[in-house]
Amino acid sequence: MTSQTSIKTLLILGASGDLTGRLLLPGLARLVSRGRADGLTLVGAGSDDWAADRWLERLEESFADANSQADSAGKQELKRIRQSTSYHQLDVTADGQLAGLLATLEGPVAVYFALPPRISQLACEALKPDQVPAGTRLVMEKPFGSSEDSARHLNQTLAALVPEDHIHRVDHFLGKATVLNILGLRFANAFLEPVWNRRYVEKVEIVFDEDLALEGRARYYDGAGALRDMIQSHLLQIMALMAIEPPASVDERDLRDAVATVLRASSIKAPFAKSTRRARYTAGTVDGRKVPDYAREDGVDASRGTETLAEVEVEIDNWRWQGVPFILRSGKALANTRKEAVVTFRPVPHLPKGFTGVDAPNQLRIGFGPDTLQFDVDVNGPGDVLSLDRATLGAELSASALLPYGEVLEGVLAGDPLLSVRADTAEDCWRILEPVLKAWGRGSAPLEEYAAGSDGPEGWPA
Ligand code: BG6
Repeated sequence: MTSQTSIKTLLILGASGDLTGRLLLPGLARLVSRGRADGLTLVGAGSDDWAADRWLERLEESFADANSQADSAGKQELKRIRQSTSYHQLDVTADGQLAGLLATLEGPVAVYFALPPRISQLACEALKPDQVPAGTRLVMEKPFGSSEDSARHLNQTLAALVPEDHIHRVDHFLGKATVLNILGLRFANAFLEPVWNRRYVEKVEIVFDEDLALEGRARYYDGAGALRDMIQSHLLQIMALMAIEPPASVDERDLRDAVATVLRASSIKAPFAKSTRRARYTAGTVDGRKVPDYAREDGVDASRGTETLAEVEVEIDNWRWQGVPFILRSGKALANTRKEAVVTFRPVPHLPKGFTGVDAPNQLRIGFGPDTLQFDVDVNGPGDVLSLDRATLGAELSASALLPYGEVLEGVLAGDPLLSVRADTAEDCWRILEPVLKAWGRGSAPLEEYAAGSDGPEGWPA
């Protein structure tokens, strides 16, 4: 049973870091400016020795966008947050420091670990259960551990401090409106369910191709790569939502049980040279911007062989999906951004003789930002009525007024873990990918190359 408590204080650890400034605070600001975090106090803590003014400057910058769109009540709330906030220099891994700060804050407190996983682990190990006041929520950023074992170890450390439903493993993709729209589309339309299975679906692709390159994130990204950064953290969750059985409700237990069930049935099978591909970009031009060779970027250790484009074929071994490939792909510095889930249906069993023209399989496309839905169907073309033509039925999906981080934070502040990744699921996502990581470590699939600004390596489907 989930206990719904309203959080009084949001404590951000890693407050002087990049994630806090770029994503977390802007997400929070939208929430606050729309009156959805009334009465909240924000406290920042970081290893940097920041004066109060420096922290306020950061808030000013990160809140600017939300502030410019806010009504007067929203502006007032943002101002109240700035007036009541404080910043503390802290070594969260040192005995007693985090506990000391926690003891001074008005509870219940949500502690957001916007820190590298190793530091988060050490910070949690430094806390003793009796130093964590009742009602405290722990919010963990991705990547959650770096292997199934380390994720399990982190889960055990957290479980000693607070109950599972007070642990929020953040996946900001679960806060994207489109991802949640998948549930509405699938479960509020009777015509989809009868064809949403192996009899009618040929394959499902989930693609997140970005034109962004490294963006100065070598320290994190070079140790992660596309497989861990995107497929492990985000795309497996989208896949699970596409594949779940109809839940009785969209409360956290029903939905997260359904997600966990799908992921438990999922695996990537050997031979990995066939079921996976990886590549790294070389120098090129993306949208007029010159992008250097990944291997020569500052902070990159080329000998690690980190991939910037990954593709895997996941199999879901259950009655509904047996034999249907789920292809997950994500890459950086590509010519075109393509962010969508595509369901390709099987061809009709028999096309009446006499029809001519295109007879292509139906495809349902769910676009992630801009949020769209498209359904490709064959219809009788203009002119010759027996000649088939392609038509696309399209709709814009409703967008959220909140940013993805705002959506996720709203759940944290309200005590609802619906948009958080559950402990078993976090471990399972590693379990699915670990055989691939090991096989790649052995060189089982070649590290191919593609020029930045291209569609990917030659021979890969565009
Ligand atoms: C992050 C990844 O989690 O998601 C980034 O670390 C990626 O590499 C980003 O660019 C994509 O999400 P969004 O919301 O920026 O499209």
